[in-house]
Amino acid sequence: MSDFVRIVEVGPRDGLQNEKAIISTADKIALIDRLSMTGLPVVEATSFVSPKWVPQLADAADVYRGISRRKGVDYPVLVPNLQGYGRAREVGVTHIAVFTAASEAFNRKNINASIEESLERFAPVMERSQADGVRVRGYVSTVLGCPYQGEVDVADVVRVAKALHAMGCEEVSLGDTIGVGTPVKARQMLRAVANEVPMQALAVHFHDTYGQGLANILACIEEGVRVVDSAVSGTGGCPYAKGASGNVASEDVVYMLHGMGMTTGVDLDALVDTGRWLAGLLGRETSSKVTRARSAA
Ligand code: HMG
Ligand code: MG
Repeated sequence: MSDFVRIVEVGPRDGLQNEKAIISTADKIALIDRLSMTGLPVVEATSFVSPKWVPQLADAADVYRGISRRKGVDYPVLVPNLQGYGRAREVGVTHIAVFTAASEAFNRKNINASIEESLERFAPVMERSQADGVRVRGYVSTVLGCPYQGEVDVADVVRVAKALHAMGCEEVSLGDTIGVGTPVKARQMLRAVANEVPMQALAVHFHDTYGQGLANILACIEEGVRVVDSAVSGTGGCPYAKGASGNVASEDVVYMLHGMGMTTGVDLDALVDTGRWLAGLLGRETSSKVTRARSAA
């Protein structure tokens, strides 16, 4: 099995969408440019959602236009519907991510649609993407628990992941949106999905709310997944998921993987510097343990 793990950096999107302080467009651009210089293969740049729902990313078009797209780095953006797709394409986006959840209650709050309606909404987006040669990632949220409905049935996660893959999502990211999962459950969930969707097409996305992020990632790496979402400095959360604190910190994921003898292509020192810079910008301490340890040393 390959020892290369592809880190999908979601800080500029998942991180910043939940920040109370709205940071400037120039700083967002600087963040993405700095991240793409660290060796990260994928930097999720922003979100073409309704600015009424997520005002923090209302400047998506300006951000995307402003970044220096580095060869070999992918810059996907979130797109909830055809309107978002049109806005993204206007500025030259070539890689999008659609998103839904395994929980009906969460979807209603997050995208004002049932699971079924959300998949119907994606159908024309998929059609247009295929015609335009745009690559599509799919997200399934609340795979290990929902802030509104509580328990989420693994069968629902499998069904939604399978549907996204069947519609043409080249990769499906399984999100523990509120970070309630624990390693054995995470592994069982991944195994169940991988019975229906090839493991090479799966990614895991953990929030560190209960401090389980790294443990969950390790369990999923052992199970065979090789794509991991994380956010520099551990920023993040979903505005429609109460209590969803930060994503697992990219610095800590990279440190763990390198410590296991796996490769990521990421320069940890450069990533730590970027995380420190971002924490300064946001005016608070980084959530990355690695960065804290290095600052103390
Ligand atoms: P709605 O209100 O049902 O939509 O929202 P609508 O179609 O009725 O439109 C309402 C208004 O929004 C209209 O404007 C539209 O033009 C506008 P008005 O006529 O009132 O002036 N609108 C848009 N404007 C710009 N771009 C668009 C767009 N679409 C409609 N794309 C909608 C439905 C899906 C749009 C809304 O619910 C929405 O934008 N939700 C996004 C919520 C969000 O971004 N959540 C966070 C991302 S998911 C996440 O974080 C989880 C993840 O990290 C994985 C994990 O952790 O599990 C991915
Ligand atoms: Mg998330």
